[in-house]
Parts: sequence; structure tokens; C-alpha cells
Amino acid sequence: MPRLRTIYVCSSCQAQHPKWGGQCTSCGEWNSLVEDVVGADVPPVSKTVAVHRSLNASSEPLPITQVMHEVASTSPTGIPEFDRVLDGGLVPGSVTLVSGEPGIGKSTLLLQIAAAWSGRALYVSAEESAHQVRIRAERIGATKPDTFLVSAMSLGDIVKAIDKVKPSLVIVDSVQTIADEAIESAPGSVTQVRECSFRLVQESKARDIAMILVGHVTKDGNIAGPRLLEHVVDTVISFEGDRLHPLRMVRAIKHRFGTTTELGLFEMSESGLLGVPDASNMLLNDRQRGVAGSVVVPTIDGQRPMLVEVQALTSKVAAGMTPRRSPQGLESSRLAMLLAVLERRTSTAFSNLEVYVSVVGGLKLNDPGSDLGFCLALVSAALDAPTKTHLAATGEVGLGGEVRHVNHLERRVREAERMGFNEILIPANAKPIDSRQSKLVRVASVAEAINHAF
Ligand code: TYD
Ligand code: MG
Repeated sequence: MPRLRTIYVCSSCQAQHPKWGGQCTSCGEWNSLVEDVVGADVPPVSKTVAVHRSLNASSEPLPITQVMHEVASTSPTGIPEFDRVLDGGLVPGSVTLVSGEPGIGKSTLLLQIAAAWSGRALYVSAEESAHQVRIRAERIGATKPDTFLVSAMSLGDIVKAIDKVKPSLVIVDSVQTIADEAIESAPGSVTQVRECSFRLVQESKARDIAMILVGHVTKDGNIAGPRLLEHVVDTVISFEGDRLHPLRMVRAIKHRFGTTTELGLFEMSESGLLGVPDASNMLLNDRQRGVAGSVVVPTIDGQRPMLVEVQALTSKVAAGMTPRRSPQGLESSRLAMLLAVLERRTSTAFSNLEVYVSVVGGLKLNDPGSDLGFCLALVSAALDAPTKTHLAATGEVGLGGEVRHVNHLERRVREAERMGFNEILIPANAKPIDSRQSKLVRVASVAEAINHAF
């Protein structure tokens, strides 16, 4: 029997090392060592490992048409809004990083995923006791005998738990609170986060287990962890929202096995996170019609159309004071630009007005197609006159006051129609769209839009 030997190969320079390390001593590359077995009788390896190895091996170059075409098989998590973002589900042998601010709901979501998973799941909590996790699981109805809990902070204990439970899904919550005892630095340090994650990635690949790592980020995304790990893991999911509002957004920032264009929506409730299949309905639920400063914008996030209410309020500035500009849900520079365009191109005066703008639901609108809606809301607030009741508006506004075309216009229009908006302002040069239930008004400038809106 030929003897088999485990070695570690640098995926960058192909140098072989007898031991695993965070850095290749030959070329200096970090996180580049991958486990390999040498000897004649190489044991069969799982498909994903094979795919992974083939990425790193020094194989012969082939014409692209002859390269093996394997589509990764996905396992649905059982949480449809999460599966939508993953383009189907989790891939065995892959590692997904779920990152978000503390308190946003990561642990809650992952506990729900563990309970919805069709196989055996191991939830490793390195932040709370198993008892605390159980209490939360009871509260959100996420208990199932196939979900195993362990409270562990040491990498060795985590690997032992994986050996014992033999799960098909492992969740490690969080990557900043676990440590490899062989490394002297503290949990959460760059070295610990990197080494532990790299080791977990290897365990996932070697055992063909789907793994989810939780990583905390601050508002600027700077804590050691998520940023550092983005290139080590297969998928990076960002979990966002405003903690003071129930709406939570989940999106893929990186995904080796599918698209990164889908948005998942959840609502944080008393009993955990609930999927939001109809965002427009939820977002417009509390809207009062006929109020000055309120305009509905059909927006697109990822592939998902949503109707969002934007609001503006103005009040007279006290004599001698600089008027306040207070935007929530849009960049202050964009608000400043839109105000300047309105002053110059429509002669609406804001210089003696305090201006408050907000996007309902705690959403952040980066969509340029929401410009026109913000402009109309600002003018409506300044005039103290509501826009037409069933009006919606979409268009990017340029510095000349022109209304420019937006992406996915047809989808925006259909969503507005679905929600009963029957007069929709769209850019003048948009491609022809057939309007089924609504009047589409093509506007070339903000001034023209204002003429139609009131
Ligand atoms: P958590 O999942 O602990 O956040 P993270 O792991 O990202 O730090 O949840 C954070 C908040 O969510 C917590 O402050 C309370 C709230 N919450 C609910 O509103 N409903 C629930 O059912 C649960 C479990 C939590
Ligand atoms: Mg948590």
C-alpha cells in the first residue's frame, strides 16, 4: 500500500509545505495554502473539493469549450427570501459570510435557517450560551430535533462538534468571537479572524458541508472580519436595515455560484424575521393621501421593483440662522444638488427654508430614478400643496433640470400600476411602453413635471 501524505500547496506559487500556515513562506501570499494529498492512491474526493482543487492545481490549459462544465448544485435553506438572494440555496462545500451591524438580526435569521434546513444543522454560538439560544429559538418557533446547538469559542471544540454531529449545515456565530488556541492573539484580531476562517473554509470543503459564518461590521464596515474575509469565502451576504424600523434587506455582495442582483426583504417581528413578498404593500401601508410633501416613487433595488414614499417638509428659518438641510435615506450631497436644480431651473426658493427629507421605512434610496420624486416632494412641501393623489414619478434629474431615463422602466411602471397609481411621470425619451391601466406622462424637465403633478 503506498503511503498517503497530507501536504499544503500554495495556490499562488504552487510551493508545497508540510504544515498549514496563514502565509506562504515561499512567495509571501496570505491565505493561499490549500490541503492536498500526495501518494498513488488518492482517495475519492467530493465534487466540490475536486472543483476547488482544479482551480488551484497546475493543470494543462484547455480550450474553454473543453473545460468540464459543472453547475454547482444548491440546497434551499427553506427561507425563500434568503434563497432568492442565494440564487437557489447554499452549495455544499461552500462558505457564506453573513455580515451586518450588531443587533440587526443576524443571529435570529441564522437560527431560523438552521430550523428550516432540511438536513442536520449545527449552530455554533460563540457569543451566547446554548441555553440563551434555546430560549430565543422557542420564542421564534425555531426548534427542531435536527438542529444541534453548541456554545463554543475554540476552533478545536468547533471542529470536534462538527465531527460528532456530522451536519450538512454549520453556522458559526460569530467569526470575531472564536479563536484557535495555537495562535496567541485575541479573538477578533486580524490574525485570529483570518486563521480561524481559513481553517473553517478548509473543513467545509473537505467535508462537503455548507457553512455560514457570521461577521459583525460597523457602519463604515471597518471591523476586522468581513472585509478581510471577502476573498476567502465563496459568498458574502450583507444584512442591512435601520434598527429603529422593522424592514431588513439582504443582498449578495459576492456570489461564486450565482447572480448578485437579487434583494431579499424581511420584517423583524415579535416572532423573528418574516419574509416580505410584497414590499410596496408594506411600505405604502401607513401612507396618508393628500398630504403636501409626499410623493410615491417606483424604485428598483437589485431586480426588485418597490414603491417607496418619499417625504419632504419645509419651515421658515429663524432670522439670521443658516437654514437646516436634514436628509434621511438620501445623501446630503444629492439633496443639495436637487435643491440647487430646483432653485435655478424652476425658481422655487429654498434659501429661507429649513428642509427635511425622509424615505419611509428607513430605506436608503441610492436609485437615481428617485430624483424626480424627491424634487416633486420638495416643491410640494414648499408650496404646501399636495400632488395628485394617484400620481407616481420616476426619472433621474440632471443639472440642467432635464429628466433623464432610468433602468427597468417597464418594471417600475407595472409595479406602480399594480398598486393603483394611474398617472405616472416618466422621462420624455424613454422607450415606448404600453400603458395598460395608467396614463404615462412623458416629461422632459422638472418644470414640466411640476406642471403635471399638481
Ligand atoms: P439579533 O439576531 O441578536 O442581532 P445580531 O445577531 O445581528 O446582533 O437580534 C437583534 C434584535 O432583534 C434584538 O435587539 C431584538 C430584536 N428581535 C426582535 O425584534 N424579534 C425577535 O423575534 C428576535 C429574536 C429579536
Ligand atoms: Mg448575534
